[in-house]
Amino acid sequence: MILLIERNIFRTTKNRLFKFAPKLKIMSTYILGIESSCDDTSAAVLQDDTILSNVIANQDVHIKYGGVVPELASRSHQQNIIPVIHRALQEANINKNQLDAIAFTRGPGLMGSLLVGSSFAKAFAMGLDIPLIEVDHMQAHILAHFVQVKDKPKATPKFPFLCLTVSGGHTQIIRVDDHFKMTLLGQTIDDAAGEAFDKTAKIMGLPYPGGPVVDKLAQVGNPKAFAFPFPQIQDLDYSFSGLKTSFLYFLRDQLKLNSNFIEENKADLAASMQYTIVEVLMKKLVMASKQQGIKEIAIAGGVSANSGLRNAIKNGEKAYGWNTYIPDFQFTTDNAAMIAITGLFKYQKGEFSNQEITPYTQSIFK
Ligand code: KG4
Ligand code: ZN
Repeated sequence: MILLIERNIFRTTKNRLFKFAPKLKIMSTYILGIESSCDDTSAAVLQDDTILSNVIANQDVHIKYGGVVPELASRSHQQNIIPVIHRALQEANINKNQLDAIAFTRGPGLMGSLLVGSSFAKAFAMGLDIPLIEVDHMQAHILAHFVQVKDKPKATPKFPFLCLTVSGGHTQIIRVDDHFKMTLLGQTIDDAAGEAFDKTAKIMGLPYPGGPVVDKLAQVGNPKAFAFPFPQIQDLDYSFSGLKTSFLYFLRDQLKLNSNFIEENKADLAASMQYTIVEVLMKKLVMASKQQGIKEIAIAGGVSANSGLRNAIKNGEKAYGWNTYIPDFQFTTDNAAMIAITGLFKYQKGEFSNQEITPYTQSIFK
């Protein structure tokens, strides 16, 4: 007990000192990360770059609506945030007074959802008198590659590397020169890759979120059973809305001939759509690698959980001489460990936020 109190006094002193000398390194740094940008409430604790806990509360409330309902998402975040943070601290086996900083997702995302996480983070940081650190969600997806799992050391990408960031809201090819020097090389001009998966599922009458369902079906289907047109988009940009429309029209025509068409061809349809989406993603990534002369290749975001994409990236090692970096499943979809690691890099630079900070909804990459 006495030891703990002394440790806490020491921590507080350390944090006060840190405000003036951020590079001072006395002992381990403990960062709490908070993620609430969309429909997952997550909290994670890192000890330096090693994960101690990563708790995620998914919101089932959206399933019956076939997509995220923003108002319901923010209400669920309000219900979940305290228990999730409490559990993250418990699983990490640390006391809140041991935390050195609170990192939170400032954006992009849904405003109502972001407000819950950011308001909590501000209050908690103020209460504990420790630094508050804003994190960009898309940068965090990329920096998830730097989180270490205890006793499972993992190679991290070497700078400069390219990252294909594919999620429910974004599809971006980013050149990463250091933890925070990131340049957008290409992005979708309409739907994101995750949306393409989710809409494929929706059109087939499969549940939301559709990506994992399509992935599972695709594993037992024939990817060449049906051919869908590839978008003709300039440079390194993407487009997925045309593919969605042609899938919709194709099914409409087939259903006129056979009302059981979807049921009878479920796996082949999923495999063919997944194959097309992955081929589209890979084509521009290969182009970007050649243009930039970079063979360090990473993927990030929810769609990086996709088996077809993971295989295609891995095959790039043989086909193009790439070194590839594929995240552990727990770091693909939204999680707070990625927020905490980004927070750690900012903490080491002494980049802190003030209490006036407000969330933003759009990507910082232009
Ligand atoms: O990164 P994320 O959790 O949230 C956003 O920041 O958007 O990504 C969610 C997206 C959803 O569209 C979901 O369907 C997709 O990632 N996703 C997948 C898979 N797992 C999640 N898409 C394809 N295959 C998967 N296995
Ligand atoms: Zn995300």
